[in-house]
Amino acid sequence: MSVGQVLENIPIAPLTTLGVGGTARFFMEAQTDRDVESAVAFAQQHALPLFPLGEGSNILVPDAGIKGVVLKMSLQDIRIEEDGDSVLLIAGTGVPWERVVSEAAARGVFGIENLAGIPGSMGGAAVQNIGAYGAEFADTFEYADSIDSITNAQRRVNRADASFAYRTSIFKKNRSLIITRVALRLAKQAIPNTAYADLESARAEGVPLTLPTDIVRAVRSIRARKFPRDVGEGTAGSFFKNPVLPQEKFYELAKHFPDMPAFPQKEGTVKISLAWLLDHVLSLKGFSIGRARLYEKQPIVIVASAGARAAEVDALATEVARKVFLATGIHIEREVETFGSYE
Ligand code: EPU
Repeated sequence: MSVGQVLENIPIAPLTTLGVGGTARFFMEAQTDRDVESAVAFAQQHALPLFPLGEGSNILVPDAGIKGVVLKMSLQDIRIEEDGDSVLLIAGTGVPWERVVSEAAARGVFGIENLAGIPGSMGGAAVQNIGAYGAEFADTFEYADSIDSITNAQRRVNRADASFAYRTSIFKKNRSLIITRVALRLAKQAIPNTAYADLESARAEGVPLTLPTDIVRAVRSIRARKFPRDVGEGTAGSFFKNPVLPQEKFYELAKHFPDMPAFPQKEGTVKISLAWLLDHVLSLKGFSIGRARLYEKQPIVIVASAGARAAEVDALATEVARKVFLATGIHIEREVETFGSYE
């Protein structure tokens, strides 16, 4: 495909990790900021929504397709700037997140090593504020450069304006901001954060956890055991967010489910484990609708087997949410986003 060209009726399923759903009315690819500007202009001329696509690891494409312009973000530049005790790692939003993690680890700098093994791109990581093993993308974020697809203005978003919270950011709330490049501040020296149970057990087994490369290796191996990969089936990682409850609601629920794992948050709320509820309260491991099912090893993950339709994934997610609500009174939210809407 030549960059900048407008293609029509392109299947998007192969560009997502779930691998389901229909075609995009228009499809473009951006390798440079100018390509992004051209796509913005094209979408404006046709009065169509623009959907930036990274590695497609958190996206559900409807079977009916996308009535808009899908813009594959392929800005692949990556560089490191020295800055005293830290470095700035600046990368285009099309750089695969795993490459960002590997570059940082190879340099021996700390901050994102616990986020190893997460599928997606630099852009997706920012939109989603990815998190794992006690670390969050937001922890190292310095700034993002973006183009506003409504006003065409270039805008640098600094940490104070990025509104990061659990699996969300300004970029998720304000979809007109198309991020082109992200800068992360990574530390030359740090005390590794290995407090999470899985990492503690790795340490107890004698796995070294001192250097960023050690931690990256350990986290990749833990995740490889937990998440389905390369088995000819589609998945988008955690399909739902873990519920974050006000204290009163948490205490009420804990009376019924005293063994429920709970993680108190800074804001005074309590995050609970949806995987635990789906497993121990609802016994939903392996629960399926058509060719979509809850993964046996980690029921917060939806797996779409070959030939699955987006409608099956959507129906499964809706049914799981209904069951959780009936059993607990909690409205769960999806982490995975649907491109366009169902028709
Ligand atoms: N659990 C069960 N049964 C299971 C699986 C898990 O009871 O079959 C329990 C575990 O014992 C544990 C709890 O559920 O107490 C949580 O499980 P886990 O540690 O695997 O993590 P999670 O809450 O399901 C979150 C993130 C992941 C992140 C991991 C590791 C969300 C929605 N998910 O998962 O992020 O990798 O913690 O830190 O916050 C993602 O967002 O896509 C994602 C994969």
